[in-house]
Amino acid sequence: MIDILIVGSGGREHALGWKLRQSPEARHLIFAPGNGGTARLANSENVAVGIEDIEGLIKLAQEKKPGLIVVGPEAPLAAGLADRLRAEGFDVFGPGAQGAQIEASKAWAKSFMSWYGIPTAARHTFDNLNDAINYLYSEPGPYVLKADGLAAGKGVLVTEDRNEAIQFATQVMLERIFGESGAVLLVEEYMQGPEVSVLALCDTKSGFIFPLPGACDYKRIGDGDAGANTGGMGVYAPTRLMGSKMVAQVLREILMPALHGFQQQGIDYRGILYAGLMLTDAGPKVVEFNCRFGDPETQALLPLLESDLLEYLLLTAQGRLTEASSLRYSNKYSVGVVLVAEGYPGTYQKGIPITGADLHFDGVELFHAGTALNPDGQLVTNGGRVFNIISTESSISLARKKVYNAINAGLGAFVGMQYRHDIAQREEE
Ligand code: AMP
Ligand code: GLY
Repeated sequence: MIDILIVGSGGREHALGWKLRQSPEARHLIFAPGNGGTARLANSENVAVGIEDIEGLIKLAQEKKPGLIVVGPEAPLAAGLADRLRAEGFDVFGPGAQGAQIEASKAWAKSFMSWYGIPTAARHTFDNLNDAINYLYSEPGPYVLKADGLAAGKGVLVTEDRNEAIQFATQVMLERIFGESGAVLLVEEYMQGPEVSVLALCDTKSGFIFPLPGACDYKRIGDGDAGANTGGMGVYAPTRLMGSKMVAQVLREILMPALHGFQQQGIDYRGILYAGLMLTDAGPKVVEFNCRFGDPETQALLPLLESDLLEYLLLTAQGRLTEASSLRYSNKYSVGVVLVAEGYPGTYQKGIPITGADLHFDGVELFHAGTALNPDGQLVTNGGRVFNIISTESSISLARKKVYNAINAGLGAFVGMQYRHDIAQREEE
């Protein structure tokens, strides 16, 4: 049996911990920093070390000596946490800084895709605002603009309005609303089609990449995809958009070339390669790659998994994924709805008391994201995205019904909570 250190504090990390807790090989779980939900898992503890505190995380690992370290978010991966921990002899799930560039630098990711023939939107890269504006004047739109670096999912604008595009370019490059992430601006070809997230276990050492079922997330705040982009408002999986033919095509045209690309670049990539795809008329194309488990995709995918997650994470971390047998899934469907604080994704309050976190509904899981225990031990909100409510059932319709019934019955309730009402509706029609 081994102890496991999980870095992060979101719904994704709670879901990872929940699933790893089911493994007969998992002894003690340590979350840094974790949330109100991870604090309540059996045989688990939260340690108050933040994801930006690389030295603190290394010290924690040296102290606790976990048999596996799983890094949830992209920022510590991009900062080289996995490299440092590997150098200390730990088994780490998550790529080093070089591999994490696939997410941390959109410009590098675009170059990587062009070197290895991975289909994606054509792009122009600008390090000068005037050049970017001149280019926008020369094109009819719609416009897709992206800050090069990490911007917490908010560095992208898709618009038909040229003035809005110019204003965004100015904010990113001149006003630096995303800091140094805006030193370089990408203007991309506009693509159309449904979007699917494909998360794959990727191990360049043994040369193996293994996709999980396709999941669909909802990024906009409002029903019908209205309003601002968020960190994710809902999810479902698997999607019928990813039939076996499409999975084979994505493996052949996107995932295998990425694996070979990493190998040819001498990049040791052991973790999740997340391909955000658009299924265009000309075939699947990459919108973005991420270097980690998706949030909220993970919360929907892990309840479908029947295999022991620990075995797969450990084999990946050790560069032995070829030794794994196929992952087993139930024939079920997950639907997940995110409860967010009033005002999110703008400014919102924290510390709002939560009622109903201890209610139980058959076939429904409550994964915590922005929650914490206050000094009195009371569960309160601690972020914009507060809970993920996931139902896993024999059909999308039944899972939808159960999620919304649970919310209506008060599961996870707090004052001012908001959520989308149309998650997975399109898959029913
Ligand atoms: P990203 O942060 O790169 O995932 O982009 C956020 C969202 O913007 C995506 O989920 C898409 O809906 C949209 N988007 C990004 N790139 C494009 C593109 N080239 N064409 C159309 N929509 C895009
Ligand atoms: N669900 C989007 C992401 O994890 O980036």
